[in-house]
Amino acid sequence: MTAPLPPSTSAGVAAIIVAAGKGLRAGGEVPKQFARWRGAPLLRHSAQAMAAAGVAPIVVAIPAGWDDVAAQALSGLDQIVLVHGGETRQESVRLALEALEEHRPANVLIHDAARPDLPARVIRDLVTALAAKPGAIPVLPVVDSVVRGDEGVRVKSVSRDGLYRVQTPQAFRFADILAAHRAWQGVADAGDDAEVGQAAGLAIGLVQGDERLRKVTFATDLEEISLPERYPRTGL
Ligand code: CTP
Ligand code: MG
Repeated sequence: MTAPLPPSTSAGVAAIIVAAGKGLRAGGEVPKQFARWRGAPLLRHSAQAMAAAGVAPIVVAIPAGWDDVAAQALSGLDQIVLVHGGETRQESVRLALEALEEHRPANVLIHDAARPDLPARVIRDLVTALAAKPGAIPVLPVVDSVVRGDEGVRVKSVSRDGLYRVQTPQAFRFADILAAHRAWQGVADAGDDAEVGQAAGLAIGLVQGDERLRKVTFATDLEEISLPERYPRTGL
């Protein structure tokens, strides 16, 4: 168990975990968020990490028809609120934000259930960053060479200077991101919540992500992230 955040940083921090996808690329008998990994459903791991950090309530967006499975996956955890998600991730986030409104937390962490291994350090850094900016996201620098290609042919190199891979959780002041998602409704599909926030004028800070936060997308990812590998931390 990780120590809870100090009261000064955890007060008023709620979470949204989006787990309402179909997991089509991963396949399997159940959507990937309910698949077992390290002895528990994938979804349970990040919910546990949030709860251990003192984050509450935790609103979990789930697919309609999976209420019993989700409740079972999260059994014994306190302050869980289940809501049905939408057709897109963005819609699932917005519906969860609407459900959080009555709780009026100061801050909210928005996280993919598909990223089960959530280090307490990342939660702490994100919440700390919110003191200076209305939004903060975990990123890792791109280290591979990057090229633009067209129809299977290399066109040209792209400088990786200033390029980052973006992870979740993404942290925001609650009222700001709720307003941003309401304003974005009906616009094109957003890449992530930071894009929605930035479109509404929010400044978004970058904090150091973690390789452990990588997303389970394909069935093989479930096997790969269960390896006991650990990566060195890379500075921004
Ligand atoms: N998600 C969601 N609601 C949706 C779509 C996605 O809550 N309508 C969630 C997923 O459950 C996942 C996260 O958003 O935790 C990231 O999405 P992704 O990895 O694309 O998951 P899926 O959409 O489920 O997978 P796929 O695209 O392969 O069908
Ligand atoms: Mg998807």
